[in-house]
This record gives sequence, C-alpha cells and structure tokens, in this order.
Amino acid sequence: MNILTFKTNEELNEAGAGIITGLIRTNPRAVLGLATGSTPIGIYEELVRVYRKGLISFKSVTTFNLDEYAGLPADHPESYRSFMERHLFSHIDLPAGQSHIPDGNAPDLEAECKRYDRLLEDAKQIDLQILGVGHNGHIGFNEPDHALRSGTHIVKLRETTREANARFFPTLDAVPTHALTMGVGTILKAKTILFIARGADKAEIVHEALTGPIRTELPASLLQTHPNVVVLLDAEAGRLFA
Ligand code: GLP
Repeated sequence: MNILTFKTNEELNEAGAGIITGLIRTNPRAVLGLATGSTPIGIYEELVRVYRKGLISFKSVTTFNLDEYAGLPADHPESYRSFMERHLFSHIDLPAGQSHIPDGNAPDLEAECKRYDRLLEDAKQIDLQILGVGHNGHIGFNEPDHALRSGTHIVKLRETTREANARFFPTLDAVPTHALTMGVGTILKAKTILFIARGADKAEIVHEALTGPIRTELPASLLQTHPNVVVLLDAEAGRLFA
C-alpha cells in the first residue's frame, strides 16, 4: 500500500488528477469508479482544468459511481447524479451513455441493483476506483456491520451517516433513509483503488482502517486485502502516519 501525505489540498488534488489522467492517456478506454462526497471535489475540479487545457479527453472512458440515495429523483439537487453533473460530467466530453449511477428512484430497487451488477460485469473490471471514507469507516454506502455484501444492494443508512450528510439538505428529515451501493466485492475487484481522505476528523478512522485488524465493522479496513491501493491524505488526515 502506497500512502502519500500532502501538505496542501492543491498538491493532493494535482496528484489525484495526475493519476487519473495518466491512466486515461495510456488507456483512453479506461473504466473509472467514481465517488461523491466533499473529498473528491477538488480532484474533479483539477480534472476539469486539465480537460479545458485540451490535455485529456473522456470520449472513450466509462464511469461507474459507487452509490446513490434511494427515493430522490435524479434531478434532485442532492442526488449523486446531480452531484456528478455539477462537479464533473457537465464540464467534460464524457458521452452521457457512458456514465453509470444506480437509479435510486427506480420502481423496483432490487431489480435496479441486479441491472447495475450486470453493467459492471459487462465492463469486466474497473481500472481505477476513487474512494472516500465515512467517519464510521464506510466505503461507498457499505456501513459497518457484522457481515458485508459483495454486489450492489440496498442499505439502510446509519443515523450518524444521515447526520453527517444532513449538511447538504434543508433538514435531517430530508436526508434519505436508504441508498443503493456497490458492494465491497465489486470495490475490491478494481485493478487500482485511489483511497482519499481529508481533515482531522478522518485521521483516526483512516489510521485504524489501514493499520488495525481487518473487520466488517470497519469496512475500509478491507482495503488492506487489496494488492494495489494508493492512499492520498492531506496533512490532517495523515497525522497519525507521520
Ligand atoms: C458519503 C458517500 C461516501 C463518501 C463518504 C464521505 O456518504 N456515500 O462515498 O466517501 O460519505 O463523505 P465526505 O467526502 O463528504 O467526507
């Protein structure tokens, strides 16, 4: 596991975007796994800057997002589809049909999970999975539990997760109670995982996940079983590795 700590957020963003653009340059048909949350935003902004300079094209790239809230229409400002449009998709030349996000508003959510897994299977393998981490160690929306699921599934969000994400909604009640998420099996199948964390409030969970025992009650600890994880931390999140 390659753990890199950066003094500034700009350096972290440039490093993260550099890894992604390097991949797309060597493999224009790369399959990217994308994440939402505040953590990857700076990297997406950097990717857009590189794209605007004419240095990269996403025309042949395919993307799969980790997760989506259940019950929010796709055009709701806080759906992860809207998030991705706002921060990345609307600014680059990625063809609309090549970006995949589970449909959290599908009439049959179980069927939607199966459809998403079929799309992932058709894509064979995610080349690079961008991954953040929740304060409780969740990855995607795989919440701590006595057992974890491999494929895409419906999850009931922990109250702490809803509270953490309430900052984006008018009230706590407006935060969805459920979500659809890729399972840990799919995440761990990615060729490379780009695991990113920022801020002092992530320092302990990141350190425990990457150095402590591997357990399903701390889903990010499963990353220790993956042969190719690159970890990007800002100085605060990486404090305990110094
Ligand atoms: C969200 C997302 C995760 C994300 C995490 C951290 O709930 N489902 O994919 O990694 O929480 O979010 P943030 O980056 O805003 O701290």
